[in-house]
Amino acid sequence: MERKTFKLPFVHFFYILFLSHLVFCQLDYKFYDSTCPNLTKIVRYGVWSAIANDTRMAASLLRLHFHDCFVNGCDASILLDDIGSTFVGEKNAAPNKNSVRGYEVIDNIKASVEKACPSTVSCTDILTLAAREAVYFAGGSYWMVPLGRRDGRTANKTAANELPSPFESLDTIIVKFNSKGLDTKDVVVLSGAHTIGFAQCFTFKPRLFNFGGSGKPDPELDTSFLKGLQSVCPDQVDSDTNLVPLDSVTSNRFDNSYYKNLVNSSGLLQSDQVLSTDNRTASMVLNYIKFPYLFFTDFGASMVKMANIGVLTGQDGEIRKNCKVVN
Ligand SMILES: *[C@@H]1O[C@H](CO)[C@@H](O)[C@H](O)[C@H]1NC(C)=O
Ligand SMILES: *[C@@H]1O[C@H](CO)[C@@H](O)[C@H](O)[C@H]1NC(C)=O
Ligand SMILES: *[C@@H]1O[C@H](CO)[C@@H](O)[C@H](O)[C@H]1NC(C)=O
Ligand SMILES: *[C@@H]1O[C@H](CO)[C@@H](O)[C@H](O)[C@H]1NC(C)=O
Ligand SMILES: *[C@@H]1O[C@H](CO)[C@@H](O)[C@H](O)[C@H]1NC(C)=O
Repeated sequence: MERKTFKLPFVHFFYILFLSHLVFCQLDYKFYDSTCPNLTKIVRYGVWSAIANDTRMAASLLRLHFHDCFVNGCDASILLDDIGSTFVGEKNAAPNKNSVRGYEVIDNIKASVEKACPSTVSCTDILTLAAREAVYFAGGSYWMVPLGRRDGRTANKTAANELPSPFESLDTIIVKFNSKGLDTKDVVVLSGAHTIGFAQCFTFKPRLFNFGGSGKPDPELDTSFLKGLQSVCPDQVDSDTNLVPLDSVTSNRFDNSYYKNLVNSSGLLQSDQVLSTDNRTASMVLNYIKFPYLFFTDFGASMVKMANIGVLTGQDGEIRKNCKVVN
C-alpha cells in the first residue's frame, strides 16, 4: 500500500493514504509471512475442530474478540487470568463471567502456534484470526486481517464492566461505539453478529412479562415469538441462564436473517429490536435484508475497524508465551 502511494500523482490521495497509514500502518497483512508461514492454517484447524465439536463456539469466539477489543483495545487483556490478589483480570467482570466462552480454544491454538513458531505470534492476533475463521465456517464472509498487534501487560476490570449491554439505549450504545472510533453504521453491522449464537434468558426477560413496569410484555414482540420465549424463560429466577438462539430462524448460520427477524418483531434483545424502529438505523436494516452480500462486505470492513481499536505495535506490549499470563 505504501509503495503504491508514492506512484499516485494526486497530492490529496497522498494525504488521505498517509493519514490512514498513521492509524493502521503498523499492522500488515504479511506480518508473519516469513516468521510463521503456517499461522493461518494452524488457527483455521483449531477453530474448525472447536466448531466441529460445538457449533456454538463460532459465536463465542466472535464475542470473545469483541470483548477483547472494546476494553483496552485489542490486546488480549481478556485472556489474562486473575492471580490471587496481585493481578485482577477481566474474566470475572459482569459481562464476561459465566458468559464469555472459548478461552480454552485460543489457549490450545496458542500452544500449537508456539510449537511451530515460538514467541512470535501475539495472542490478540490469534484471537483476531480465530474470529474471522469462525464467521467463515459459520457460512459468513471472509476478509483480510492486518496483523502485528502485540499483547498488553495490563487488564481493566472496571472498563470491562462498561462493555455495551443489551439493556442500554441505542443512544448509549452509539456513544460507546463512537468512543472506540466506530460509528452508527458499525453498530448496525456488528450487531449482525447476532445471526449466530445464543443468549441467556436474563438478557431479555424484562421484555417478556413486565416490560418497563407495564405489567405486560414488550408490544414490539411478535405474539408467537413471545409465547415461545415465555415457555423457555418462565418468570422465575431459575430460568435466567436458559439459552435461546439470537436468530431463531437460522441459529447456526451466518446470514442476514437477523435483520429479517427485526422487521418481523422477532429481535431477541431489546438492543437488537430497536435497530429496526429507530430512524437512524432502520434504513440500514432494510438494506441488509435486500442486499445480503452488502451485509457480508460491510461486516468484514467493520470487523477490520474493530480489530484496529487501540492496538499495541512495534516495541509496545509483548508477545505472550501463554495467553493466560503476562511474560
Ligand atoms: C507448515 O506445515 C506443513 C504441513 O502442513 C509442514 O510440512 C511445514 O514444515 C510447515 N512449515 C513450517 C515453516 O512450519
Ligand atoms: C466439546 O464441547 C463441549 C461443550 O459442548 C466441551 O465441554 C468439551 O470440552 C469440548 N471438547 C473438546 C475436545 O473441545
Ligand atoms: C480502567 O477503566 C476505567 C473505566 O474506563 C478508567 O476510568 C480507568 O482509568 C482505567 N484504569 C487504567 C489503569 O487504565
Ligand atoms: C416475516 O415472517 C413471515 C412468516 O412469519 C415470513 O413469511 C416473511 O418472509 C418474514 N419477513 C421477512 C422480511 O423475513
Ligand atoms: C428522526 O426522527 C426525529 C423526530 O422524529 C427527527 O427529528 C430526526 O431528524 C430524524 N432523523 C433522521 C435521520 O431521519
